[in-house]
Amino acid sequence: MSVTVRVPAKVNVQLAVGAARPDGFHDLANVFLAVGLYDEVTVTEADELRVTCTGPDAGQVPLDRTNLAARAALLLAGRHGRSPAVHIHIAKDIPVAGGMAGGSADGAGALVACDALWGTNASREELLDLCAELGSDVPFSLVGGAALGTGRGERLRPLEVGGTFHWVFAMADGGLSTPAVFREFDRLAEGVDIPGPTASDDLLAALAKGDVHTLAGTLSNDLQPAALSLRPSLADTLEAGRAAGALAGLVSGSGPTTAFLVEDAEAASAVAKALQASGTCRSVRTAAGPVPGATVI
Ligand code: C5P
Repeated sequence: MSVTVRVPAKVNVQLAVGAARPDGFHDLANVFLAVGLYDEVTVTEADELRVTCTGPDAGQVPLDRTNLAARAALLLAGRHGRSPAVHIHIAKDIPVAGGMAGGSADGAGALVACDALWGTNASREELLDLCAELGSDVPFSLVGGAALGTGRGERLRPLEVGGTFHWVFAMADGGLSTPAVFREFDRLAEGVDIPGPTASDDLLAALAKGDVHTLAGTLSNDLQPAALSLRPSLADTLEAGRAAGALAGLVSGSGPTTAFLVEDAEAASAVAKALQASGTCRSVRTAAGPVPGATVI
């Protein structure tokens, strides 16, 4: 028997970052939107815990116990006193180390898949707790839709969204390490008084109304200067997307994927084509959101 779970990528429409906390994490006001780019995680009974992966970026995915999907299986098995012997296969379509929560998606997907395969019947609350233990963005991969994440991003409040937003994503060559981007944020912030992070009321209202033009004017990412500092060429990609007619562009999460908000599906195709032709990125994808979180298929 096997179970397959489909899990979406995310884009941060706002990522407000506070000063480093004593535990090294940063308090965030993180407005997540789940978009229709997916990884599929399939779990099958096996003699031992094993991870395989296919997809364009599969070569960059660790297949050992550092993989978030393997950690999810070990965590759930440990909690329920059972063997984690399971084959986890990840059909990966979300860019790796791209700032789109691809690893988090696999963690949430494996958790939901193992819970169904093993019949552990964990409550939604237990699943959310286990997700938060796996990583700051993992709870959002479970719930999907749109949500405001506070704390280190793991405490979620669902948000109302009054429409569908269309995006173009430009994938860069290679990934960026999230801890390295936060360290660069800290370096750039040295000697600066950083206010507590808060979500923008205008941005939340634009999401609730489905107002793409106001949303475009309110997108923000406090990690963007750090990502640009580590990868200056991203400025060219941002410029190319704006020149191609995107309403706004920003680095997605810790990058290096850049995300461009566009008027509609037709504009998405046109901007994607122009971005691909600009030669400022490795590949381009279009996707719309919000979409549901981890779902058994
Ligand atoms: O929670 P997660 O394991 O995904 O975080 C990866 C790294 O990103 C952390 O080790 C930390 O360096 C950084 N981080 C942070 N503040 C957050 C979330 C992540 O500094 N709120």
